[in-house]
Amino acid sequence: MKKRIKNTLKFYRLGEKIHNDLFHKKGEELIQEEFAKKISRTEVINYLLSLKDFNTKYLEIGVRFPEQNFDKIKSKVKFGVDPGYENKDNPVDFQLTSNQFFEKLKKSEILEQSIKFDVIFIDGLHLAEQVERDINNSLEFIKHDGFIILHDCNPPSIFHTIEFHEYKLSPAKGFWNGTNKNPCFQYHHRPEDRPKGANACRNYGLKIIKGDFFLFLDDDDLLADFSLSNRIKTISLNSKEDIYIFKMMRFTNKVGDLNLIVNKEFKSKEEALIMFLKHQIPWPISSLFLNSDFKNLRFNENLIRFQDVAYGIQLLLNIKKTSELKISINEPDVFYRNTDNQKLFKEDFIKKILEASIAYFSYVDDMLKSNFSEFDYLKYKKYHFYFFLKFYETYFLPMNRKLYNLKKLKRVLIQRRYINKFDILKMLYVEMIYNSKFKNRKGLGLYRIFTKWKKRKYFL
Ligand SMILES: C[S@@+](CC[C@H](N)C(=O)[O-])C[C@H]1O[C@@H](n2cnc3c(N)ncnc32)[C@H](O)[C@@H]1O
Repeated sequence: MKKRIKNTLKFYRLGEKIHNDLFHKKGEELIQEEFAKKISRTEVINYLLSLKDFNTKYLEIGVRFPEQNFDKIKSKVKFGVDPGYENKDNPVDFQLTSNQFFEKLKKSEILEQSIKFDVIFIDGLHLAEQVERDINNSLEFIKHDGFIILHDCNPPSIFHTIEFHEYKLSPAKGFWNGTNKNPCFQYHHRPEDRPKGANACRNYGLKIIKGDFFLFLDDDDLLADFSLSNRIKTISLNSKEDIYIFKMMRFTNKVGDLNLIVNKEFKSKEEALIMFLKHQIPWPISSLFLNSDFKNLRFNENLIRFQDVAYGIQLLLNIKKTSELKISINEPDVFYRNTDNQKLFKEDFIKKILEASIAYFSYVDDMLKSNFSEFDYLKYKKYHFYFFLKFYETYFLPMNRKLYNLKKLKRVLIQRRYINKFDILKMLYVEMIYNSKFKNRKGLGLYRIFTKWKKRKYFL
């Protein structure tokens, strides 16, 4: 009897200990947080499929219970692969492990060897080596603009990432992410204390990267599947100090539907710098493939626009005299999705541009001042002033009545001795005419004023 009571007490004490254990409590909290997350895997997959034309092909590796995800996927053609470890009925197209499936596919023993999928969802055996194998195999069968989705790569706690699945008394309960944290791909989040936007994200990335080279890729960019190997091969044949610029091409719906290269031609570092200053941007940021020596250059987190232009200028001011800018002669390896430009002349958009111009103008002027002799600084001021004129003429002048901050920008220009009080008067005259019914009348001197500004060689 005493022994029974002792055992029962032991049993309850163990239960109590687990129940009150801080790791178990935190584990439970994290599990609930995961459940509360709004966007499900099914929604992500269906969203990506919806971006493609209706003839989509979908492959799911690891299906388990099809009604939980597979059946809800909207794709013209879909296939599931699962050896059936967790569901004895296993109603899938291929009752195989993913390795067996890809082996047979490569030999055309199942489906056609030439098949390419729009989306492949990898959710089979969650061990890092296996996931890596699944990724490599999937890369052979994914369309050039397709998506490979990896599930469970962001484990909420260390207890979710153990090697085996069977032990369920841990703070992760029965939930398991495996050791999916694939070394090739890592997901990082901008620290909470950094401002929102691409600049802080990129700076955070620059702080933690460990590789020999790096590149920037935005959500409207697409990297060709040969891009990384192409870039590594090209750059490794050259001096480490050179900067290699690859070509970017625009597309509307599908890569190749527009024959427009984003990059502009230039002959020297000097010309590239002048182009950036004049806002005739010689290369988009995703064209760059930089060696790790450049990872200490940071984006200006106060700029809400023009950050890539400022980065280009900074890069050119920081490369060694002996380094060269080399333009890849290969075909384009990065693509930019064209979006409609309707927002370009909307009031809010222009107000943001104006706000950004104020910060950008001072930032670039400071860079020019600190990098050049007085003589050269005066020379580059001319091109930097072009930037102002371009935006003034295109955006600010037509909307000047609504742009309270235009005064602020003019003040910066006066303080930094780009313009004088007479220029301010001329601007007021130009704006007055622009706001009147004489806007389109010739002979009022507007053209002459702008031409003189554009030709201005010497600054104060
Ligand atoms: C997490 S479940 C899949 C869940 C499903 N994708 C969903 O979204 O509801 C993992 C599945 O992978 C399967 N699996 C395990 N090892 C595998 C392997 N080597 N190849 C393919 N599938 C595997 C298991 O049988 C299990 O059904």
